[in-house]
Amino acid sequence: MVQEQSNLEQTEVVIKVKRYNQEKGEYWSEYKLSVDRFTQMTEVLRRVKTEQDPTIAYRASCHMAVCGSCAMKINGEPRLACKTLALDMVKKYGSNQITVEPMDFFKVEKDLIVDMDDFYARMFTVKPRLYPSEEVLKGNAESRLRPEDQKELWKFAQCIWCGLCVSSCPAVRIDSKFLGPAAHAKGYRFLADPRDTIYDERLKILGDSAWRCTYCYQCFNVCPRDVEPVTTIKKTRAQTRFLKDKTEVVKTGEKHVRAIYESIRDTGKLEEAKVYLTTYGLATAITDMLYTMRNGKMSFALIKEKKVSEIAQIQKLMGEKE
Ligand code: SF4
Ligand code: SF4
Ligand code: FES
Repeated sequence: MVQEQSNLEQTEVVIKVKRYNQEKGEYWSEYKLSVDRFTQMTEVLRRVKTEQDPTIAYRASCHMAVCGSCAMKINGEPRLACKTLALDMVKKYGSNQITVEPMDFFKVEKDLIVDMDDFYARMFTVKPRLYPSEEVLKGNAESRLRPEDQKELWKFAQCIWCGLCVSSCPAVRIDSKFLGPAAHAKGYRFLADPRDTIYDERLKILGDSAWRCTYCYQCFNVCPRDVEPVTTIKKTRAQTRFLKDKTEVVKTGEKHVRAIYESIRDTGKLEEAKVYLTTYGLATAITDMLYTMRNGKMSFALIKEKKVSEIAQIQKLMGEKE
């Protein structure tokens, strides 16, 4: 009984919500309420709305990290509100004040509700469903997935379309041709599915975009379902060698990877200047070298790496020597 009481100990928190509507623009509202150690942030918002301020707008449905509708920023972190306990935030930040804001990148409709049209457009670009063979559709053949294929796909099939990864991806903000992390996770999930019949078309949709990711790993960090979109991007890059008509972005990306491989194979180190020259060619390298000179970084660009003494071991590890 004593244990039960301590479990339900109440703590007062201040919830600071970033609001927006067309009439007033942006403003902040504060609410005080008591929470216990089981109180999810969706429950906090529900109580604020029902007990204190019916004008506040937010989305939530399943309350169990399945529907993806409660994505928002809590204390600046992209999170699912239903998967976030209020007191965990208090403990983590050492403050009883918790800020709640809409996701970044997307246009805010009202308060914590954002327009997800851009997100859905990205997702539908990659044809997010299985295209089975005619024989399977006619019921003349089975469409079985082997356990090893299921193992490869399982993680990437866990996406709940919450949009958190896209909201925190720097590449989608600067590159309109980049499909974004969630679309890549979804696209690869079908690209790697042996039951699917439109591999070439999928690779064409995903190939160029895959080489536009900056590998910052933000999508990996924020995904509430551990989907690892960046891993699907790496795996898609590994398949662009099968692309028939490669774009300049794909060609440059593949050249860059080859140059890094050769640098490690030959010296055991990453020779930045040489890798850059091999990837981008002399004309671009000269232009960029002038830029480096102007910014006092020339000495770094010209460092010539010496081979590491155990180079033979590295080459053996890379399968280049017996
Ligand atoms: S990959 Fe993760 S963060 Fe991105 S939309 Fe899917 S579930 Fe959300
Ligand atoms: S790793 Fe790539 S996809 Fe993921 S957040 Fe960074 S740039 Fe975006
Ligand atoms: S309410 Fe469904 S994921 Fe949070």
